[in-house]
Amino acid sequence: MPVEREDLIGELRDAPTLPFIAAKLVNTIENPASTALDVARIVMSDQATSSSILRLANSAHFGLTRRVGTIKEAVVIVGFRNVQHIAIGISVLREYLEATDADAFDCRRLWLHTIAVGCAAKILAREVGAHEEEAFLCGLLHDLGKVFLASRQPEEYGRAVGLSHEEDITIWDAEQRTFGYNHAEVGEAAMAAWNLPDHVPAAARWHHDPRPERSHSEFIALIHAGDCVARRAHVGSPGDDLTVPVEPWVAEMLNLSEDRIEALRWEVSEAARDRWRALVPRG
Ligand SMILES: [Fe+2]
Ligand SMILES: [Fe+2]
Repeated sequence: MPVEREDLIGELRDAPTLPFIAAKLVNTIENPASTALDVARIVMSDQATSSSILRLANSAHFGLTRRVGTIKEAVVIVGFRNVQHIAIGISVLREYLEATDADAFDCRRLWLHTIAVGCAAKILAREVGAHEEEAFLCGLLHDLGKVFLASRQPEEYGRAVGLSHEEDITIWDAEQRTFGYNHAEVGEAAMAAWNLPDHVPAAARWHHDPRPERSHSEFIALIHAGDCVARRAHVGSPGDDLTVPVEPWVAEMLNLSEDRIEALRWEVSEAARDRWRALVPRG
């Protein structure tokens, strides 16, 4: 029997599962007096996060002409607001990368999908003047609910994945039928105790049901569109094999014609593989 919605959500709200370093970085976002040096010190306190940041800063992704050798240089050259968001993403990704039963769900393919959504959202954010690394972080965390659902209820989640394939329905419809709720609600609930900026849980909650009147509709639209583009690009796996259309108001807002989506597929798959190599250590 699947766990009741209220029980799971209650359990997630009480579980302080944000990695320690990410929690410290969230505090620096909340405190406007925090400086680049504060961010550098927190990042430097964690070896694995530091090396991922340096790999990323030196990857094609940032296209920098000089080599970034230290975290202090990275916060100056990449920007400390960017490093803040990137480092939060890295520590959450590392904590949950292998979190689920391999039989129920391929977690690494899911994270590759979320990186692709983040990359698509980042590219689109640049075009509408939204903060690019904030958009990336929203993308990286948008399907976190699947990780919690699949790790707490692997057998049922395996059934939901099977149902989506057998009946050719989206994974969130299959979750709804299996559990009576879906990963978007679970993701928002899991993040509620983490004090992340509000647009991050909002994008997780509404990326499959974007509406212009919602708060944080810009980030919701970016992640909705990013999810559709990543599905078209077939990078990683969201849990089903379906492509879904971009909501018309989102397509209009982001200038997403069919030709543009087609062109983005290639750009997104390159960017996602580049970022995956930087963020996920080999092995
Ligand atoms: Fe989703
Ligand atoms: Fe997704």
